[in-house]
Amino acid sequence: MKITYFGHACLGLEINGINVLVDPFITANEKAKHIDINSIKADYILLTHAHQDHILDAEQIAKRTGAKIISNYEIVTHYNNLGIDGHPMNHGGTWTFDFGKVKYVNAIHTSSFPDGSYGGQPGGFVIEADKTIYIAGDTALTYDMKLIPMAFKLDLAILPIGDNFTMGINDALIASDFIECNAIMGYHYDTFGYIEINHNEAKNTFAKASKTLTLLDIGNTLEL
Ligand code: NI
Ligand code: MN
Repeated sequence: MKITYFGHACLGLEINGINVLVDPFITANEKAKHIDINSIKADYILLTHAHQDHILDAEQIAKRTGAKIISNYEIVTHYNNLGIDGHPMNHGGTWTFDFGKVKYVNAIHTSSFPDGSYGGQPGGFVIEADKTIYIAGDTALTYDMKLIPMAFKLDLAILPIGDNFTMGINDALIASDFIECNAIMGYHYDTFGYIEINHNEAKNTFAKASKTLTLLDIGNTLEL
């Protein structure tokens, strides 16, 4: 599995030649000006919740690529109404796709669309393919995370670390204990003033606990 960071909470996963894009928010991200959304490949688009900083470019990319949207029922219905195909899920549910198994798991957050309409309840994803990863979505630290290692042995967890709207670094460290995973990639930081972080401090916090925090430059790829 290859994971490319497109900034904010947007990830491009390449799994056995299949491209899975997560939470595309690129064209309005000042820090991702060098990313051309027309060059992004997508067979599927996973959306954790309906907030603008997670869905902004989903419609355009889905229409260009024909990608199928995977999200909660309300978000998939919203895209169905725009003529975009999707696979609806809800919390606790698992489905096997051609790239691997996806479970939609709990997140503590909100999920309205930019116009205020209901975007279902927010979630995260556990993906079981050649590697097993947890993409937390926007979330607070929650005891529900303890359920994950009861069913999965994670190779990597992608956690929000920007604070203010989600967990910050200290809670993300506790989350890594809850999910029993010492390899963490941070996301949802630095995009706006509210979520700027000190990279060295963040990495040291994890290093002191004998854990790894990876912070990718936008456009860079991590190979698992
Ligand atoms: Ni959000
Ligand atoms: Mn967000």
